[in-house]
Amino acid sequence: MAKNAIVGQSGGPTSVINASLAGVYESCKRRGAGKVYGMLHGVAGLLERRTCVLDDKLKTALDIELLKRTPSSYLGSCRYKLPDWHTAEGERVYIRLFEILKELDIGYFFYIGGNDSMDTIGKLADYGAHIGSDIRFMGVPKTIDNDLMVTDHTPGYGSAAKYIGVVMKEIIRDATVYGTKYVTIVEIMGRNAGWLVGAAALSKGEDCDGPDLIYVPELPFDIDNFLVRIKELLAEKTFVVVAVSEGIRLADGRYVCELTDGVDFVDAFGHKQLTGTANYLARRLAQEIGCKTRTIELSSMQRAASHLASRIDILEAFQVGGAAVKAADEGDTGEMVIIKRLSDDPYQSTTDLRNVHKVSNVEKVVPREWITEDGTYVTDEFISYVRPLIQGDVSPVMVDGIPRYLYHKKK
Ligand code: F6P
Repeated sequence: MAKNAIVGQSGGPTSVINASLAGVYESCKRRGAGKVYGMLHGVAGLLERRTCVLDDKLKTALDIELLKRTPSSYLGSCRYKLPDWHTAEGERVYIRLFEILKELDIGYFFYIGGNDSMDTIGKLADYGAHIGSDIRFMGVPKTIDNDLMVTDHTPGYGSAAKYIGVVMKEIIRDATVYGTKYVTIVEIMGRNAGWLVGAAALSKGEDCDGPDLIYVPELPFDIDNFLVRIKELLAEKTFVVVAVSEGIRLADGRYVCELTDGVDFVDAFGHKQLTGTANYLARRLAQEIGCKTRTIELSSMQRAASHLASRIDILEAFQVGGAAVKAADEGDTGEMVIIKRLSDDPYQSTTDLRNVHKVSNVEKVVPREWITEDGTYVTDEFISYVRPLIQGDVSPVMVDGIPRYLYHKKK
């Protein structure tokens, strides 16, 4: 690698996104890149020339190991949408970005992110080709939502799924204690895809019945049916546990969380902030049935729980970083690394590349046949798909009883 490289992180974090950063960094160094820069807060930060030199931060093998086990985006993130470069105003942003990249003598640009971040890579690669730039732009996949097309799964998903399976089991234990009617509703991220909420079924086994109901966002949600199902369950048992996706919608397309007050934040990609679904449903239950309810929003915890990360996930997150560097070094640009599953047992996977435009701005949802006919659970096929991705444990480096992270003060 003849020139310098730059790497950024974008979109929502995961507990293994820094393993991809470590993979990019280590591979760049192994292939002889000059300096490796980090964008602080992604492309938005780069536009303000906010960068760091990773070589100054990652000095030892221990730093790299700590980075792999540090949750959330070490470099900071952004949800910034690049404008259309075909307009004069939009093009000014690209002119500025390419000027900054030239000043830093960048030959390789890596962006670790989900579908919106791949929109950024696609636009940069297209504009680069338009002006005859020789910078290579590569996408490194990540998202707990697992909603990227073409790849078997995304790094970050396995660890979030593992966390959800584990805490669901703990929540179900807790829900059994009183012997009086009690409904627990657990709200799980994932936007418009049910991959994460479906992982609640991982809690089911010989020692746990799993949640009673799982509501994915792929199917319209009917509040009256929901109330009837809960009443039926409470006629049979005292405690009911429900896993509900933050993104469930009514038949008319409105998110259930929009029925609450105050959900009005929309990001640059037009995504509404989805929060409050479980609270809304619990309030309706309390009004209609009058039973005790508890709501639990797994919120940031499901994407930051590096103490429960899956070993497979950390390994693959590291590998996709390295694969992106190899591809860029060999001349590829405008591509995203994908994971191909070779076998389930033993679990084996490999990486490949796909044009980034096949991934950007589209969402891969759970196939209808992996959701039960009545729409309130996932099937065994779903479980077989996710189970290999949660295997293996990685202990954090514990200091004084608490995990130690690689720390980088951000503003
Ligand atoms: O895309 C990942 C994700 O965690 C979604 O599941 C969730 O809806 C969203 O990010 C939340 O984003 P933010 O942290 O920007 O509110």
